[in-house]
Amino acid sequence: QSANIGVIGLAVMGSNLARNLASREGNVVAVYNRSPERTRQLIAEHGSEGDFVPSETIEEFVASLQPPRTAIIMVQAGKGTDAVIDQLAGLFEPGDIIVDGGNADFHDTIRREKAISAKGLNFVGAGISGGEEGALNGPSIMPGGSAEAYKTLGPILASIAAVAEGEPCVTHVGTDGAGHFVKMIHNGIEYADMQLIAEAFDLLRTVGGHEPAQIAEVFQAWNTGDLESYLIEITAEVLKQVDADTGKPFVDVVLDQAGQKGTGVWTVQNALDLGVPVGGIAAAVFARSVSSHPEQRRAVQRTAAARPTPVSPGENFEDAVRAALYASKVVAYAQGFDAIIAAAKEYNWDIDKGAVAKIWRAGCIIRAQFLNRIVEAYERNPDLETLLEDEYFARAVADGVDAWRRIVSVAALSGVPVPGFSAALSYYDSLSVERLPAALIQGQRDFFGAHTYKRIDKDGVFHTMWGAGRNEVRQDGH
Ligand code: 6PG
Repeated sequence: QSANIGVIGLAVMGSNLARNLASREGNVVAVYNRSPERTRQLIAEHGSEGDFVPSETIEEFVASLQPPRTAIIMVQAGKGTDAVIDQLAGLFEPGDIIVDGGNADFHDTIRREKAISAKGLNFVGAGISGGEEGALNGPSIMPGGSAEAYKTLGPILASIAAVAEGEPCVTHVGTDGAGHFVKMIHNGIEYADMQLIAEAFDLLRTVGGHEPAQIAEVFQAWNTGDLESYLIEITAEVLKQVDADTGKPFVDVVLDQAGQKGTGVWTVQNALDLGVPVGGIAAAVFARSVSSHPEQRRAVQRTAAARPTPVSPGENFEDAVRAALYASKVVAYAQGFDAIIAAAKEYNWDIDKGAVAKIWRAGCIIRAQFLNRIVEAYERNPDLETLLEDEYFARAVADGVDAWRRIVSVAALSGVPVPGFSAALSYYDSLSVERLPAALIQGQRDFFGAHTYKRIDKDGVFHTMWGAGRNEVRQDGH
């Protein structure tokens, strides 16, 4: 009984997390993998990096942990996770802590937490972001579970998390599924960020007439301003890459069909269920799926009208693209936080939005300078209706909005698809215009289905007798 923390599942993420844990002062790390070769390999290659206690059976693994036993499961999300949880739950004792560090569906996390806590054990669903590199050197960690479990687990996670402005990128997000929900939203924003960057690239190339290597330099320059972020930084690296076989830019030899493992889809599905409009994020998810329908693309390519000639980029084109990118990014984050706020209400989570923004400042895929602006916005007012009303973001978007409109119209005229930019702009316009055509939709609903409507000038619920004289009648019994 010597290890204060254990890791089960030693594929890349699991072994990197175990190595990260072992490298930090004070941690003794129990490790176990279903096939023992992996465990042996980890110890052979990295055993000297810190204090590991390897086990070849799960019983030995459990016996090597000191109470309260704390184990992080790093296996493929889904059935595999349930099997390992069951095994551990059979061997752990009341007060012990089972942590699921995978990209679990937060509904599963809620279900698992209920079942495990009924046995007197603690279950923590922890979102972990940062890929392989983050797991090894410092990820952003989003744990959800009981406050009691966090007392033991918090310091251990803080020892391995990335650090932003002196603070570890981990916080107790909330109970049961809160951590995995927030990780899911992180991924939804990640999809949006990536799509918007891709659209900026497409415009700089198709309308701006630049080559990938030149565009890499544009992104490098942007990475020193308010867009400074990991995704902008790696975009420049990817654009610089030249294919060794053909000598062509890497982006010109890669099949243009974006893959996805599901967390973006989950974000949109759950936002729909919660009634939160996340059109910017949805546009990014749909853009990936459009890209992955080559038969449809070929069919329309054969039958479509001739492609338009790109219009002239005009003055300060790069700056305008940058402004459109920034404004659209603000919208994606505003929508992501809206979903977090709605879910917190629905699932009774007490989520500190500023704390979430803080732990996304380093370690994770969407890490960016920008997150500091969100931290400040929620410091100014924790009850913002939307990030877009915050003084900083309101000004930032207002300053860029002319450029944003110009870019969306230039893209439309040039035939460059910008689903992310345009969805975000339409969302902004929908919120900022005084009247929406939704009144007409109410009229249509009332016409065909007597669905009733409210008026702007009187209280009550009304229906017009569309088929019989067209008189208006009050429907709420007054
Ligand atoms: C992270 C990432 C990670 C995710 C990849 C791939 O935060 O480290 O979000 O969890 O698995 O980004 O996602 P897709 O395959 O869906 O693009």
